[in-house]
Amino acid sequence: MHTKEATSSSQGPFVFTSENQKAIEGILQKYPVGRQASAILPVLDLAQRQCGGWLPRSAIEAVATLLKMPFIRAWEVATFYTMFHLTPVGRHHIQLCRTTPCWLRGSAEIQAVCESHLGIKSGEVTPDGKFSLQEVECLGACVHAPVVQINDDYVEDVTPESMKRVLQDLATSTKPKATQPEDGKGT
Ligand code: FES
Repeated sequence: MHTKEATSSSQGPFVFTSENQKAIEGILQKYPVGRQASAILPVLDLAQRQCGGWLPRSAIEAVATLLKMPFIRAWEVATFYTMFHLTPVGRHHIQLCRTTPCWLRGSAEIQAVCESHLGIKSGEVTPDGKFSLQEVECLGACVHAPVVQINDDYVEDVTPESMKRVLQDLATSTKPKATQPEDGKGT
């Protein structure tokens, strides 16, 4: 699992873009007055996207202030969920599911392909900042095991060959082709 640790930011205070501020206004309207802290997950997600895929401490502080909650509570949420990253990740952040169904269907081989192709282990970022790897628990798509998530996209029914192709495509900035179920399995 990705090692999470606090990273102090030297980039100054975090400020949401005007576009994200507008999006946050819409999010907050979904919650009762005085319960704005319930919006912590989507607001942290917006902050992370604005920061390029990770959450510097200053962004978590800004979210806590915005939602009128103690910093420690926002910090607890950010450190609990593997979807949040407290250190920089690669442009293509690869999450490898290692839970039993994926493991039985060959996730160890997929991980070996990623590690040897990219020259990094789980929790690391390639020196050029293009890729990072993270082992995660069930991604909720076991019917298509083994499954890998790359940023917001799922790659399903992965084989060592298809994983290599995906990595090669991403290295040349080509979006991998959508996978097609081979046996009529739905998503
Ligand atoms: S076990 Fe891998 S997606 Fe569920």
